[in-house]
Amino acid sequence: MISIKNLLNSYDLTKKDLLEIIDLGNEIYKSPDKFSHCADGKILGTLFFEPSTRTRLSFESAMLRLGGSVVGFSDAGVSSSTKGESLADTVRTVSQYADIIAMRHPQEGAAFLASKTADCPIINAGDGGHQHPTQTLTDILTISNYKKDLSGHVIGLCGDLKYGRTVHSLLKVMSLFPNNKFILISPDELKLPEYVKKEVFADGNNNYEEVRSLDDVMDKLDILYMTRIQKERFFSQAQYTRLKDSYLLDKEKLKMAKKDCIVLHPLPRVTEIATEVDSDPRAVYFKQVKFGMYVRMALILKLLEANNDRNN
Ligand code: CP
Repeated sequence: MISIKNLLNSYDLTKKDLLEIIDLGNEIYKSPDKFSHCADGKILGTLFFEPSTRTRLSFESAMLRLGGSVVGFSDAGVSSSTKGESLADTVRTVSQYADIIAMRHPQEGAAFLASKTADCPIINAGDGGHQHPTQTLTDILTISNYKKDLSGHVIGLCGDLKYGRTVHSLLKVMSLFPNNKFILISPDELKLPEYVKKEVFADGNNNYEEVRSLDDVMDKLDILYMTRIQKERFFSQAQYTRLKDSYLLDKEKLKMAKKDCIVLHPLPRVTEIATEVDSDPRAVYFKQVKFGMYVRMALILKLLEANNDRNN
């Protein structure tokens, strides 16, 4: 059984928790029909205060494929938050109906706050520029399927490392596994924040380098994690316009990569990966989308189990 009651932050996951979820995700991926009644009678609440395609729909598909049901909203404008209801009250209310809640919110720490008043497990489906732990589970399940081992890789993370919450979560988790080396590829203005570096590399593991150019490091990478420049987090439109086309992965550039390098992207993409790359077998980002559903099925089952045990 996993050690956590909620999934708020990828930092809360122990290596054992992570491997338990990934192993179950793999089992579900291989035989999804075996799990089609595992959440019969259970309800997932989806509270999305920010736009989403993959995260919300994969959570909903995950619960439906487990035999459960879904209630919720994808636009806070149709909820009573427009009448001034606090987040704490909204979450407490929905937790009277639902057995588990997945929540996305623009404010950092919103999922943590929600967990304080909810009467059911809370899953952070993205809180501002802070964390996106279920994207990390998606990324890890994808990597484990293509690379077999989660250790000993050179991992390039490219793009908006400042606001890209998926990068923050992934770095922490991949640093739990030995001999991974990280190459942080970004413009100076979008470098990984110091607070993330302190959290991720706190134990003296400073197995990382920071570079500006993707071309210079392309041939070293086992895994390339591309990210979009996060327009919605910029305070200055002029700065966004200047930085938005910092990187472009196209067929020509991919020629420099190793034959077994895999390219991941949490999606949505904007212009950072040309669509001509999609047909390259190393481009696994749409497979990653599907792994996201299987790993969320696993997470729902694990959290329901952990909370069931506590309640009995
Ligand atoms: N990767 C991801 O979080 O996508 P959505 O914003 O579409 O949910």
